[in-house]
Amino acid sequence: MNPFENARSIILGTGSCAPENVVTNEDISRRVETSDSWIRERTGICERRVASDGESTADLALEAARKALRHAGVSPSDLDGIIVATATPDLTFPSTACLVQGKLEIPGTFAFDVNAVCSGFMYALKVADSMIRSGQSETLLVIGAEVMSRFVDWSDRSTCILFGDGAGAIVLGKSGNENAAGVGAVSLHADGRYWDLIHVPGGGARSPVRPGEPAGNACTVRMKGSETFRMAVRTLEESVREVLKEEGIGVDDVDWVVPHQANIRILQALSERLNIPLERFVINIDRYGNTSAASIPMALDEAVRDNRIRPGQRILLTAFGSGVTWGSGLVNWTRKSGEER
Ligand code: ACO
Repeated sequence: MNPFENARSIILGTGSCAPENVVTNEDISRRVETSDSWIRERTGICERRVASDGESTADLALEAARKALRHAGVSPSDLDGIIVATATPDLTFPSTACLVQGKLEIPGTFAFDVNAVCSGFMYALKVADSMIRSGQSETLLVIGAEVMSRFVDWSDRSTCILFGDGAGAIVLGKSGNENAAGVGAVSLHADGRYWDLIHVPGGGARSPVRPGEPAGNACTVRMKGSETFRMAVRTLEESVREVLKEEGIGVDDVDWVVPHQANIRILQALSERLNIPLERFVINIDRYGNTSAASIPMALDEAVRDNRIRPGQRILLTAFGSGVTWGSGLVNWTRKSGEER
């Protein structure tokens, strides 16, 4: 008999971290031609957090990780590995995961980054879950962390209003034979034909920042907003339905949807198409904007800590991002938190 047949991963603890510096819509409207009402109506965003000088993706990731470890009652030395989902790493290399591992002082533990931009957390979760299910690992740290503000053209009103900085983390552990508990089906998809819908042209091997040359605007986000919007709504619905089918459950069995926070209108459209009321969505885009790979674990942590998410509930995670990439997953929430163990 396969000893891992019934192995599942469960979320043992969550944590998050956002920079203290708040940038309101009013602040942005002093820099570009826009208004608080336009941004609220078209995106649902009221303010976002922006990292201060010297504050980096690894710093936010580390803080979120420490909170998740405390919440789980797990010590860094218990970890088998660290996976960081980020599209805004501190350095081109080494990975942000290695920087976090160094700060946690757990040499030897594996550490690597996953880049699926706004879907990054779903990709990292799937990799970690698979490693636990297959028996390769028992306890993993999965982090989504971004400092998007450094890759935004603050003179482009169509993109600078959207993004914010932050990090969210979970500690993933191995469950016993609880068949229904923990991380369930996770579906991942990508369509690289649409790589240019949302991209940062400069800074990579194709268009490097050369010594002595200013990086200029080449290292900032370019986005075809309305095409992205339409594709996001369609693919999110498809992947949610795929996960529900694989789990053999219906929309009424889902207690909470914890979505990537890209635009409130995308979430409204998804809510209508799925027939899941928006009240069952965990939404914090109003306070943080689009924090890319960090948005799902940040929202999850918020809803766990304020007791919206409780044991026995079914939580649906879903994301869409640059690549283009998208994915959804079902988590059967098992324990309240490590703090209570
Ligand atoms: N303030 C005022 N007017 C603006 C602003 C602004 N901040 N931004 C754009 N406009 C104007 C445009 O210039 C345009 O004017 P025009 O009609 O005179 O040409 C008009 O508003 C409409 O522009 P649209 O781009 O059609 O506006 P839309 O309603 O599509 O909203 C938005 C734009 C908010 C960007 C939306 O398209 C969106 O959210 N798209 C999806 C983003 C997303 O999901 N990204 C996913 C992942 S991101 C990642 O992976 C990193």
